[in-house]
Amino acid sequence: MSLTDSIPNNVDLASDRKLLRALEHWRPNFLDWWMQMGPEGFQRDDIWLRTAISVDADGWAQYAYVRMPEYRWGIFLVPKSGERTIGFGDRHDQPAWDEVPGELRGSLRRLIVTQADTEPASVEQQRQLGKTAPSLYDLRNLFQVNVEEGRHLWAMVHLLHQYFGRDGREEAEELLARRSGDPDKPRILSTFNERTDEWLSFFMFTMFTDRDGKYQLAALAESGFDPLARATRFMLTEESFHLFVGETGIDRVVRRSAEATRRDPNGDARAQGAIDLPTIQKWINYWFSSAIELFGGEISSNAAEYFATGLKGRYQEQKKYTDHLALEGFYPMPVVENGRLATREVPLRNAMNEVLRDEYVEDCERACRKWNRTIEEYGLDFRLRIPSRRFHRTMGIYAEHCFDPEGNLITREQFEARRHEWLPTEEDRAYVQSLMTPVYEPGRFAPWIAPPERGVRGQPLDFPYVKFASRD
Ligand SMILES: [Fe+2]
Ligand SMILES: [Fe+2]
Repeated sequence: MSLTDSIPNNVDLASDRKLLRALEHWRPNFLDWWMQMGPEGFQRDDIWLRTAISVDADGWAQYAYVRMPEYRWGIFLVPKSGERTIGFGDRHDQPAWDEVPGELRGSLRRLIVTQADTEPASVEQQRQLGKTAPSLYDLRNLFQVNVEEGRHLWAMVHLLHQYFGRDGREEAEELLARRSGDPDKPRILSTFNERTDEWLSFFMFTMFTDRDGKYQLAALAESGFDPLARATRFMLTEESFHLFVGETGIDRVVRRSAEATRRDPNGDARAQGAIDLPTIQKWINYWFSSAIELFGGEISSNAAEYFATGLKGRYQEQKKYTDHLALEGFYPMPVVENGRLATREVPLRNAMNEVLRDEYVEDCERACRKWNRTIEEYGLDFRLRIPSRRFHRTMGIYAEHCFDPEGNLITREQFEARRHEWLPTEEDRAYVQSLMTPVYEPGRFAPWIAPPERGVRGQPLDFPYVKFASRD
């Protein structure tokens, strides 16, 4: 198979010799990285995966058994529709760019590289999880997420190769050289250096961390740099499945937890082999507070700059807003002043990270209401909640202070005294880890998680989503 056949694409790869050569050079390095850092121990198995093969709304993906190293990582941009203009900022209504404007080259490269770096990072973080999958259904979903993060890396590397010349090629190599959690060459963002080594964390990651990705991609989908807007728009179609895995994964853990609490004579879910609701809450507190850092500083001149120059818009900039300049108006920001919380009026452009974070928090709260409806079905009073965005922060304006999960300012001593109530303890982690034994029999599920409502793409729950090659 020639390279252009094995890379499904709609960027006319066959006739772009220069791009083709760059990718020919990069691909073996990508495959080396995948074999070294991709899912460990499953590279020879047949996984029932979807592959993006076009950008048609219906029929963009194909489902078939694939060995992961043979996955066809493709390059797709949502097609141009007429002459696009820049939708916001100082150059509002000017034609969108098909090439990188010289003066924005550095910022644009940084935006693309930062997004790109998260894609391989998450594959690295999740590479041991296959060994403890709670079912074949979940195992397959993990690998689906992994190969698609790989494709997202391809999507960003395509932009680097096509539009950034030699710098772009170097960045593309660097993306394969950094390693999640490696002290010498870590991934760029700290959340992407954290361990995701049990499945409750995997569901939290796909719920909270991938969801940051959705909002970042959506903001870049508004970009005045048209190839970036079109690439990220297509990535969002795949991303929604990752979020589904997280949101429904947590819901299934919650369902089993509520059911076990109900069933146990002492209301002890752990005694029934499930994860108790307070422990799930701690994982939510931990992962939400980590993911929310990814939006950047609350008051940010970088964010203002990205907006002003037309590089990064707001979530659904065209649909949701009428004032695309954002030169007037203020964002009422809670800040700590003289030892107490007060509201400061921040010029809107400087609060763009916070505006995006608002959308994210609202989305997380929507999901949490769903989990609580599951708990209600079992007649329990316990309710999960999304903690305040001020809780447990290590970056931004709240990092110097301590807050409880409701967002009240407290002292460091008060925080430390209650840390074990709010965040996973070593003992909690050991308990969750103790549940992680693999279940590979079609149609069976580990006792700590409920089965999903339905299988993948109309297949039954006992479908052999993964067919293991003989182990020798
Ligand atoms: Fe991604
Ligand atoms: Fe994702």
